[in-house]
Amino acid sequence: MAGKILIAPSILSANFGELAQAVRAIGEMGGDMVHLDVMDGAFVPNITFGPKAVADLRPITSLPFDAHLMIARPESFIDAFAAAGADIVTVHLEATTHLHRVLAGIRALGKRPGVSIVPSTPVETLEEVLPIVDVVLVMTVNPGFGGQEMIGRCLRKVERLRLLKEENGYGYLIEVDGGINRSTIRSALDAGAEVIVAGSALFNSADPKAEVAFLRGGW
Ligand code: DX5
Ligand code: ZN
Repeated sequence: MAGKILIAPSILSANFGELAQAVRAIGEMGGDMVHLDVMDGAFVPNITFGPKAVADLRPITSLPFDAHLMIARPESFIDAFAAAGADIVTVHLEATTHLHRVLAGIRALGKRPGVSIVPSTPVETLEEVLPIVDVVLVMTVNPGFGGQEMIGRCLRKVERLRLLKEENGYGYLIEVDGGINRSTIRSALDAGAEVIVAGSALFNSADPKAEVAFLRGGW
């Protein structure tokens, strides 16, 4: 069942004055995709960047863009992020009432729909959309900032999602995001994580390439 572990470095912990270099660095460190943390100051208590930054970064790499929209009413911006070149567009269950419509809309734009839940949201709330998503992103910290400590209990949701995937033959990838580092990676992989987001562990490292290899399971 298990495929290759995919590493999705997040530019959130990079120097925002040098985002182009950060995206280049993700290729050099061996990342499989570029994780883009979009924050609006409403859904989460922080603001990052929007579709123009994504569009401007798009020509820098051929790696897929994994857009994690931590924004209220994401339906208003799906078209813009699709046009900007996002490949995966992940929205939060907590951020929209008509989640099914948003996810179907992302698919209709030719992009891969993803759904994410914050630590306080149980997996059961996702039941009706699991058949129509390509990615389920389990937040293992409360979203808004890089460099936080993982909330270990969230990995039980990863285990649950793995079981649901096996039992029902669903096609989604299970992505984990928040507090992933050398100390926590094994528990995330053991739980069933398939896509690993890491920000501070990579961008604060003197040797990000070695960190990526470690997170992939090369310990
Ligand atoms: C948090 C973001 C994460 C963040 C992870 O709101 O969604 O992607 O960048 O950062 P680390 O790996 O430092 O916890
Ligand atoms: Zn993220």
